[in-house]
Amino acid sequence: MPLILTSQHAAHPDSGQVHPVPSEITPRALYATRRQWLRDAVLLGSGGLAASSWSGALAQTSAPVSAATVTRPGKRAALPAVRSSVPGALAVDKLTSYEHITTYNNFYEFGTDKSDPAEYAHTLRTRPWTLSIEGEVGRPLKLGLDDLLKLGAMEERIYRLRCVEGWSMVIPWVGYSLSTLLQRAQPTSRAKFVEFISLADAQQMPGVRSSVLDWPYVEGLRIDEAMHPLTLMAFGLYGEVLPPQNGAPLRLVVPWKYGFKSAKSIVTIRLTEKPRPSSWMLANPREYGYYSNVNPTVDHPRWSQATERRIGEGGLFAPRKPTLMFNGYGAQVAQLYAGMDLRKFY
Ligand code: MTE
Repeated sequence: MPLILTSQHAAHPDSGQVHPVPSEITPRALYATRRQWLRDAVLLGSGGLAASSWSGALAQTSAPVSAATVTRPGKRAALPAVRSSVPGALAVDKLTSYEHITTYNNFYEFGTDKSDPAEYAHTLRTRPWTLSIEGEVGRPLKLGLDDLLKLGAMEERIYRLRCVEGWSMVIPWVGYSLSTLLQRAQPTSRAKFVEFISLADAQQMPGVRSSVLDWPYVEGLRIDEAMHPLTLMAFGLYGEVLPPQNGAPLRLVVPWKYGFKSAKSIVTIRLTEKPRPSSWMLANPREYGYYSNVNPTVDHPRWSQATERRIGEGGLFAPRKPTLMFNGYGAQVAQLYAGMDLRKFY
């Protein structure tokens, strides 16, 4: 996401980006293969449910499904999940391929080109990992990754991701509502805002040595936004643990806001009485606001937000799709902003 109007940055960030062209595997076919593998893994573990009863068993179960540690040679650990029953959590759009989701990324801690995270993020150490929940809470917590993986029932959520740069994807995440985690820490009545702080370790993250942002990467939500059932703590995608370039081992996903609100590789969640400006607001307050709800009627100062390019669907010259208010999640979230001037609070 470019922030300064230099000749280097003036071009629209989504134009002329050269990134590896992933093989054109039909996303759903690929996903079906992965899911079949997951089924097999769970069937093995459960001591032999009849294959035909699998879908029924999954649909009926409401019990938490703990994260599996089964691995495929050369693949990531599987993260079994039940399909989410949260309203709006299962978009019917065609899925973006795993290859596109994991090779076209924004993760400035590893560089500013879309292909940098896939190339360099393998240096990220995701174990051991500790998440601190602090600030306005009755019960401050320090949780290790294994505890976090067990803390809530893993759900599959299919969300549209709309980047402020004008491109979008459809991603099958695995995780649970952030509220599940926050409730454990018992927010006090003074907790009005939630701050998300990403890891910033120059040893593991070469981009942190650059001054492109004021590290660590910080984002924030109002407490009611953070507690909304669609706000997801994601640990995986496509039925497997997150690859480093997508924000392993845990990241936020707020589907009705521009993608930069969804902080990656989070180490601290702090509940506060007052909001703190995010990294992007500090870098360029004219261009990036605190709310940053997807809104096709409010243009970015340098480009229109009325349309978007769906990654993997036809390349740079394919017809653009109209962008939807709140990225299509208005039925679920519009009431959070009742009475607010959404042009002013961008
Ligand atoms: N989180 C951190 N820590 N660093 C980043 O550079 N980029 C943001 C967001 N979270 C970013 C981040 C932006 S601009 C977007 S669009 C999404 O991550 C991209 O997520 P993806 O690469 O998984 O598609």
